[in-house]
Amino acid sequence: MEFLDLKTQQKRFRKPLEKRINKILDHGAYIMGPEVFELEQKLADYCGVKHAISCSSGTDALLIPLMAWGVGPGDAVFTTPFTYVATAEVISILGATPVFVDVYESTYNIDCDKLEIEINKVIKKGKLKPKAIIPVDLFGLPARYRLVDKIAKKYNLKVVEDAAQSFGGSIRDKKVGTFGDIAATSFYPAKPLGCYGDGGAIFTNDDSLAEECKAIRIHGTKKDKYNSEMIGLNGRLDSIQAAVLLEKLSIFDEELEMRNIVNDNYRKYLNNAQYHPKEYQSAHALFSIVLGSNEKRNTLINRLQKNKIPSVVYYKLPIHLMKAFEYLGYKKKDFPVSENLSQTIVSLPMHPYLTRADIDCIFETIQTK
Ligand SMILES: Cc1ncc(COP(=O)(O)O)c(C=O)c1O
Repeated sequence: MEFLDLKTQQKRFRKPLEKRINKILDHGAYIMGPEVFELEQKLADYCGVKHAISCSSGTDALLIPLMAWGVGPGDAVFTTPFTYVATAEVISILGATPVFVDVYESTYNIDCDKLEIEINKVIKKGKLKPKAIIPVDLFGLPARYRLVDKIAKKYNLKVVEDAAQSFGGSIRDKKVGTFGDIAATSFYPAKPLGCYGDGGAIFTNDDSLAEECKAIRIHGTKKDKYNSEMIGLNGRLDSIQAAVLLEKLSIFDEELEMRNIVNDNYRKYLNNAQYHPKEYQSAHALFSIVLGSNEKRNTLINRLQKNKIPSVVYYKLPIHLMKAFEYLGYKKKDFPVSENLSQTIVSLPMHPYLTRADIDCIFETIQTK
C-alpha cells in the first residue's frame, strides 16, 4: 500500500502529457512558455479569481506577497506553530517577526479568539507593528475566513491564505484561493494538485498587487527585463511543470470527489479525525487521526509498519520548538494545543486511488490489540 499513489494517477494521462512535453521540446520556451500562461488562465477560472500567478514553489508564493507589501524588520506577522516550517520561514527571511497563535483542538486551524488576544498583546507591548496574518488551511481544510477577515479589518492587517494544502477546497460556494487579500498554494508533488518538481501559485483579485507580485517573481522587473524596479526573486514556474499541471487539472475535480469518498469511508470507522465544519469542503490533502497519548500513537505506528501500512507524522515538532526559531524566545507549553497534537497525531494513507479494501485493512490493523 502506498501513502500517496502517483503511479496509478500517471497512467491516466501519460500519453497526452508526453505529447505536451514533446511540444515544449519543439518550441523551446522552457521558461514562461505558452503552457505557463494557459495554466494561469485555467487556475484563475477554476478558483473564480482575477489573477493566478504561477511561481517556483509554495514557499515563494507566500514570500512574494509579503515582499510586495514591504513586510520587514519591526513587523509582526501572525500564524500558527502547527504547520509546515515554510509558513513561518518566509516571515523570518524578511526580518519580520512571526507571532504564533495556537490552533483549535477540533480543526487544527488558527484559533480566532487567541488571534485577537495575540494582536492586542503585540499592540500593548508596542515593540512590533502588527502587519499581516497567515492562516493555514491545514490538511486541506480552509481556516475560518469570516472571522479572520473581521479581525484583519478591525486591526488593519493584510491576510495571506496559506493554501499550500487546500487547493480545491471551499467554504460554501467560495473556492480556496479567494480568501484574504491573496492566497498562496503549492504544487509540490504530494499536494492535491502537484507537479513533478517544485511549483506554486498566487491568487488575488487585486490588480495592482498582482502586478507587483508578477514583477517580484521575475527579479523585480516590469517592462524592461534588464532594469529591475524593485528587489525580486527568480520565482518562475517552468513550462514543463505547467504542462504536468494542465494534465492533472483536467482530472482534478474527479480526483477530489474520489478523495471525498476515501474520507467518507475512513470516517465510517474512525471518529478521531479533523473536524470539518458544515459547509467547509476540504481538499483532503491528508487524513490524520489523533490518539489518546504519544505512547498510543507510537504503538499504532509500529503496528501499521509491521503490516506494511505507511503512516507519517505531520508535524512532530511545532515550529516554536524548532532550533531555527529559538531566537523568538518561545518555550514548551506556550501553545498547548499544537504541542499536544504534535505528540498524538498521525496521518494515514490518503490519495484518490485508495480502495475500500485498503481502508478495511487499515482499520483492521488499527483495531487489533
Ligand atoms: C502549509 C504549507 N505551507 C507552505 C508550504 C511550502 O510549499 P513548497 O514546498 O511548495 O515550497 C507547504 C508545503 O508542504 C505547506 O504544507
